[in-house]
Amino acid sequence: MTTVKQIILCGFGNVGQAFARLIAGKQDDLAARYALDLRLKAVVDIGGAAVADEAGLPAGRMTDFVEAGGAVETFETYGRPGLKALDLLAGADGAILVETTPTNLKDAEPARTHFLAAIENGVDIIAANKGPLVRDYRRILDRAREKGVRIRFSAATAAALPTLDVGQLCTAGARIEAIEGILNGTTNYILTRMAQERVHYGDALRDAQALGIAETDPTLDVEGLDTRNKIVVIANTLFELALDPDEVETVGITGVTPADMAAAREAGQVIKLIGSARMTANGPVVKVAPEALPADHPLAGVHLSEKGISYATDTMGRITVTGGHSSPTGAAAAMLKDIIHMVKLGI
Ligand code: HSE
Repeated sequence: MTTVKQIILCGFGNVGQAFARLIAGKQDDLAARYALDLRLKAVVDIGGAAVADEAGLPAGRMTDFVEAGGAVETFETYGRPGLKALDLLAGADGAILVETTPTNLKDAEPARTHFLAAIENGVDIIAANKGPLVRDYRRILDRAREKGVRIRFSAATAAALPTLDVGQLCTAGARIEAIEGILNGTTNYILTRMAQERVHYGDALRDAQALGIAETDPTLDVEGLDTRNKIVVIANTLFELALDPDEVETVGITGVTPADMAAAREAGQVIKLIGSARMTANGPVVKVAPEALPADHPLAGVHLSEKGISYATDTMGRITVTGGHSSPTGAAAAMLKDIIHMVKLGI
């Protein structure tokens, strides 16, 4: 029997649009392989919303409209200027909130309010936005558990790279002792171009922005904050912590010089921005910093906007997964995967 799921999509930037296009393009495949019918009930952006009847919004046509400069709240007969996510989440029990508004690390808004409203209204959450997870992880997860609301956030934890799937599902029963990750495509892209082509930092950053993978505010990438946010959420999830992100020692790549690159090259090493977490007798040690990796390190060959994560475990040895390069489509695909896992596996 086909499962129909109504989706409320908040945020219609690069990732939101990629998600709308993805579920429109995969409609037949989702029906055939998973007996799943995902319908875009509403899309909410800054100026208002577009709201459909039961059949869902014409996602492809709406994305074309917005790409051509239109605003969702003026889309055909569906547009509702001024309508807010909270208006849509009230009474939306059984729907799924897909949260793709830009990450705000100061107060996590508006996503935090969207998360909490979804939880109170029995709406499951799929998140690309890291803000509420970084700032308010414990409260949100605990409240979701109390209310029986599921929340998955692969897209917030390196997207197409399956960090949490490997850490939660594939290593079930093993104890993860340490985590190392290249978790940010923008900085890995910049470092790779600097190392391999000796491209200037600023030019490499501009190219990363043109690829659509940098944060709206790229200082989040280059100062290591995006990597920090991801390792904090991964460590919170896998080690059951409630880390204060402001206490995580974080060094980005803005201080990496061509001379550092040359010295690493000379020593047969490669500089990567590493987010790491490990449990010690004195508690968790979590940090972000550029590290010169030896050539045989499992993350040394991860280049450009590819990412990677390596787990040291007690019974499975070291497990490394690489790839899943940063892109809006990759983030959208991670959200689709989470929805399929949620609906079909009940996780
Ligand atoms: N800006 C991020 C990256 C993508 O470069 O990997 C979203 O987390």
